[in-house]
Amino acid sequence: MSNSCLLIVFFWAGLASLAQANAVEPNVNRGQELFANFCFLCHGQQGKGDGRMAKLLQTAPANLRKSQLDNKALAEIIRKGGAGVNRSEQMPAWGDQFTAIDVQSLVLFIKSLQEEPMDADKAKKRAAIK
Ligand code: HEC
Repeated sequence: MSNSCLLIVFFWAGLASLAQANAVEPNVNRGQELFANFCFLCHGQQGKGDGRMAKLLQTAPANLRKSQLDNKALAEIIRKGGAGVNRSEQMPAWGDQFTAIDVQSLVLFIKSLQEEPMDADKAKKRAAIK
């Protein structure tokens, strides 16, 4: 392989890794990563609203697995925070910190939590249907 050929290969490899760091599409794994860094202290690892900080707050962090909000409303409260949608200011606003794609990734992750069986009872019911 000639030197210029090698250079082109390295260039493409570089672009590919850059694209991964700056996701152009919402991605559930990215959502999980963000959640594990920024949300779990209040909402808990599983999104049940039982994070370590939950007891210190006046308003209980939502159990995200039971959230009734659609994707648009989820994204809105994440971006604007509780205060931005006339709810508790103890839910911080993240719009300044995260790109729109990252907010969508968080929405995807929250939706994925809701698809998992929530408790033994629900799992049993599911098993009975099969
Ligand atoms: C400091 C604690 C805290 C942190 C950190 C936090 N939240 Fe919250 N969150 C809350 C509280 C409290 C509420 C309930 C607000 C209310 O109902 O008035 C809430 C509500 C929500 C809701 C509304 C759900 C519903 O159905 O009502 C969503 C969605 C949400 N949070 C997502 C997130 C995401 C995503 C992150 C991380 C980027 C995050 N939160 C970080 C405290 C927190």
